[in-house]
Amino acid sequence: MNKKWIVLSVFSAIFFFTAFAQAAQDGCIQCHGKNNPAMVEDWEKSTMAKSGMDCADCHGRNHTNKKNADQAIMPSIKVCGKCHEKQAKGFSMGKHGKAEEALFVSAMGKKVRTQSSAVFDRSCATCHNEICKDGGQCDACHTGHRFSAKEARKPESCLPCHLGNHPQYESYSCSKHGALYKSRGLDDSVPTCTTCHMPEGDHMVKTSWGFFGVRGEEPDPKLGADQKIVKTAVEMLGPILAPDSFRSTMVEWTERREAMLDVCVQCHAKSSARKDLEAGDAIVAQANHLATGFINAAGKLKEDGQCSPKEYFWLIRDKMHAQRMSMYISAFHQHPEGVLLEMIHFKRATMEIEKNISENH
Ligand code: HEC
Ligand code: HEC
Ligand code: HEC
Ligand code: HEC
Ligand code: HEC
Ligand code: HEC
Ligand code: HEC
Ligand code: HEC
Repeated sequence: MNKKWIVLSVFSAIFFFTAFAQAAQDGCIQCHGKNNPAMVEDWEKSTMAKSGMDCADCHGRNHTNKKNADQAIMPSIKVCGKCHEKQAKGFSMGKHGKAEEALFVSAMGKKVRTQSSAVFDRSCATCHNEICKDGGQCDACHTGHRFSAKEARKPESCLPCHLGNHPQYESYSCSKHGALYKSRGLDDSVPTCTTCHMPEGDHMVKTSWGFFGVRGEEPDPKLGADQKIVKTAVEMLGPILAPDSFRSTMVEWTERREAMLDVCVQCHAKSSARKDLEAGDAIVAQANHLATGFINAAGKLKEDGQCSPKEYFWLIRDKMHAQRMSMYISAFHQHPEGVLLEMIHFKRATMEIEKNISENH
């Protein structure tokens, strides 16, 4: 008799719990299906919905009506990471997991913020928070509510952030690889951003040279001298003080390089891929050398009192910083026209400053 009761109450508990969960889910869909129909349709197409998950698995059950909407959890890595530990760990170890922190070290960030926090919020903070608010926003590439892995493999998932100042999307799009993507779409023969930067679904993104094209140890003394001048100028702008902004040892640098080559060999001979990457390294060296010329000329202008420290800051930011990086970003993403155009901008900007100096002497 006792046993029967136990079995019966277990069954009814399961029944009521399932019914309750179903009712809650139906509740969400009743309102949101009416208010935001496209969003709910997206969710219904997702793998997660098909595997039986419901709205409350991510948003919690505290919000049930109009008045308590602020009680809904807005899920970040803390929620997604409970079920996807591997991806969450990888994300946090790499650069995307540091994008929020990076905003607080940058003198440039402070300068923009003190002038207009409205601009800061709609520029710097939008890109960096979209991927890293609360430690991680997993829907930056797996757009809600479809949360698709396939969609994230397309270069367009990187587009909103990796353009302009950091023209990886433009460079890739204009390269042979990008042209192949345009004609063949997602295909095993075509590398997209994530083939090279997230091989086998590894969510840790980190390259050898990083954004700044400098390294902690420099085996080549000539390169080292240029890098020192570049580092000082970029430190003045601020962003190089971001966490893990360059590889501090050659061991770490080489490890990322070899990992990249392991990707190229899926489709190319290792020796020719290595040569291509070394051609990129030579552009890093050339970009740093041109930058040194510019920084020295601008420094002289400042010393002579022909530009204020504030003007010097914006001169370096406007005419050197992004141009230097764009040169090697174009090279590593096989966009030769980009390399050439940035080189021309650089030469002209340096010549203009030198002309200013000589005219005023
Ligand atoms: C009675 C209708 C109703 C029900 C039931 C309901 N919601 Fe809402 N929900 C709303 C309204 C209204 C808002 C505010 C929308 C707005 O500002 O336009 C909202 C807002 C939200 C937000 C955004 C909160 C924010 O901070 O921006 C989320 C997430 C959400 N609901 C999820 C859910 C989930 C999950 C359920 C089921 C557990 C659910 N809702 C049930 C009406 C409802
Ligand atoms: C796998 C987790 C997950 C599930 C399940 C989920 N959501 Fe969301 N939802 C998110 C994420 C992530 C966001 C964006 C959070 C942010 O921007 O901080 C979001 C945002 C929202 C918003 C605010 C959207 C806006 O643009 O203002 C609403 C409303 C919402 N969800 C409702 C629902 C409803 C209804 C369901 C079920 C049909 C559901 N969600 C299921 C993860 C989920
Ligand atoms: C309660 C556990 C749980 C939570 C929380 C959760 N997921 Fe999932 N997720 C799953 C399950 C289960 C699957 C389906 C696995 C399968 O069938 O292959 C899945 C699949 C996925 C996939 C693969 C979809 C595809 O196209 O193959 C992505 C991407 C994903 N989740 C992202 C997220 C994101 C982003 C969040 C947070 C906003 C999140 N998940 C929260 C359990 C969860
Ligand atoms: C920079 C873009 C990006 C971000 C941010 C991102 N993902 Fe992914 N994710 C991908 C790509 C690309 C794939 C497909 C990998 C593959 O199979 O080649 C993927 C695949 C997945 C899968 C499916 C894995 C499988 O084996 O089927 C899950 C689950 C997932 N991601 C969860 C997450 C979670 C959780 C977060 C937040 C910590 C996150 N993703 C953030 C790009 C991203
Ligand atoms: C919402 C904006 C956003 C999206 C979308 C995004 N990223 Fe990023 N990414 C960033 C930011 C911001 C950083 C710099 C993080 C920091 O400050 O440490 C970054 C850094 C990186 C780095 C590290 C470079 C290095 O070594 O320093 C790689 C590689 C990268 N992203 C690749 C990708 C790929 C591939 C995608 C698309 C699948 C993608 N990102 C999507 C914003 C984004
Ligand atoms: C064929 C492989 C490949 C593809 C495709 C690719 N990259 Fe790269 N990416 C590289 C290489 C190689 C580097 C330089 C690595 C180093 O530092 O040695 C690099 C560097 C980067 C960096 C660090 C800064 C820099 O030098 O540019 C970011 C960020 C980045 N890529 C993002 C992207 C994004 C976003 C896409 C797609 C629009 C993309 N990459 C497509 C191979 C690739
Ligand atoms: C369009 C989106 C976008 C905007 C706007 C933006 N960033 Fe970034 N930021 C990125 C991406 C993407 C990277 C990584 C680029 C790379 O590695 O090539 C990055 C890199 C950085 C880094 C260096 C992180 C590192 O260690 O490599 C800092 C610091 C930074 N941004 C601060 C800022 C500040 C401050 C502003 C506003 C003045 C700003 N960002 C505006 C997308 C953006
Ligand atoms: C998924 C396959 C795939 C991967 C991975 C890949 N490539 Fe390619 N790549 C191709 C294909 C296909 C072509 C076109 C080959 C042809 O025209 O015969 C190509 C062309 C090139 C070209 C010639 C560009 C031109 O303008 O003619 C270079 C250089 C190159 N790849 C470098 C690399 C490097 C370096 C890596 C690794 C960082 C890499 N590729 C990774 C498939 C790939």
